[in-house]
Amino acid sequence: MIPLIKPFIPKQEDLMPRLSEILYSGYIAEGDATYKFEEELGKLIGNPYCISLNSGTAALHIALLLIGIEKGDEVISTALTAEPTNTTIALTGAKVVFADVDVNTGLLSPESIEANITEKTKAIMVVHYAGMVCDMDKINQIAQKHNIPVIEDAAHAFLAKYNGKYVGNNSKYTCFSFQAIKHLTTIDGGLLCLNNEADYLRAKKLRWFGLDKKVARLDNNITEAGYKYHMNNVNATVGLVQLENLNLNVFKYIENGIYFDKHFSGVSGITMIPYSANTEPSYWLYTFKVEKREAFIKMMEANGITASPLHLRNDRHAVFNALNKQLPNLDKFYTEFVHTPCGWWLNEYDKEKIVNAVKKGW
Ligand SMILES: Cc1ncc(COP(=O)(O)O)c(C=O)c1O
Repeated sequence: MIPLIKPFIPKQEDLMPRLSEILYSGYIAEGDATYKFEEELGKLIGNPYCISLNSGTAALHIALLLIGIEKGDEVISTALTAEPTNTTIALTGAKVVFADVDVNTGLLSPESIEANITEKTKAIMVVHYAGMVCDMDKINQIAQKHNIPVIEDAAHAFLAKYNGKYVGNNSKYTCFSFQAIKHLTTIDGGLLCLNNEADYLRAKKLRWFGLDKKVARLDNNITEAGYKYHMNNVNATVGLVQLENLNLNVFKYIENGIYFDKHFSGVSGITMIPYSANTEPSYWLYTFKVEKREAFIKMMEANGITASPLHLRNDRHAVFNALNKQLPNLDKFYTEFVHTPCGWWLNEYDKEKIVNAVKKGW
């Protein structure tokens, strides 16, 4: 069965000597390998204010803390996402306000974001779902008009582009995940991209109890309590080796996604997703709308190919108190969309097999 998701782990001969070296180096905590990983990511993304963390969840939480989100505030978000997008908002005590999605893309609708803004709205959380970038032209316009910061949850969108630049350069806060099933995995890990030195320095303290790593432990003075959210040298070493393999991991997803864009286009029973203006997806999962979804999924399964949605819409979780919220576009999109495999593990034969199965009909 061709899976929807599969972690890329670099070749044993590339990874194991480096892991062995760091494991027995006497320094496995946050240190030089971690800083090197951050530096390399910063160079790749094109943003020097990148902070490595132990998860994407930590990145989201720190972004919310940097903005100062607290009880009584509202954060506009999407229900079509993995839970941490919204549980981190709930953890701050703020209310998650679900805006509707665009019925054609499943991504947050700029119009619905604007319609949900109140005097309590303190942030807009957008999710580049499955690697497809939201309509940032319109969302940024709305955010600027109302003077509300945007957090980009780019956990699915590592190396996707907006305006020709990698995501991570656009908003004040962009969050990535290097968790087990992402494009690039460090086993677990995350990254927060910021756009100014003050936030960068504060985030560095927040990831390590509030301590300043540049000051000797005995001379430290915590002024704001922080968390234990740092990345360590072991995960960072995995990340450094992953970065040397971009052609075999992340760029493979993108190459395959472009292949499916070409070959699925015009197939009867399929509606392609129109990607937002000035964006290039990184295709963590290939996504489209399909007629008779259950029959499609069964047909794919009979051909040895996994096809399915992935996440429970988050408004179904009682903790968000949103069961009565009307999201008509999401209702429609949620029953129509499907993901098919797109990742590094597909060879030419697999790709043809997927396209042929889809073209034969269901
Ligand atoms: C959309 C989205 N946001 C945030 C996260 C959180 O990332 P992590 O698992 O690294 O904490 C994930 C992944 O789990 C995700 O899919």
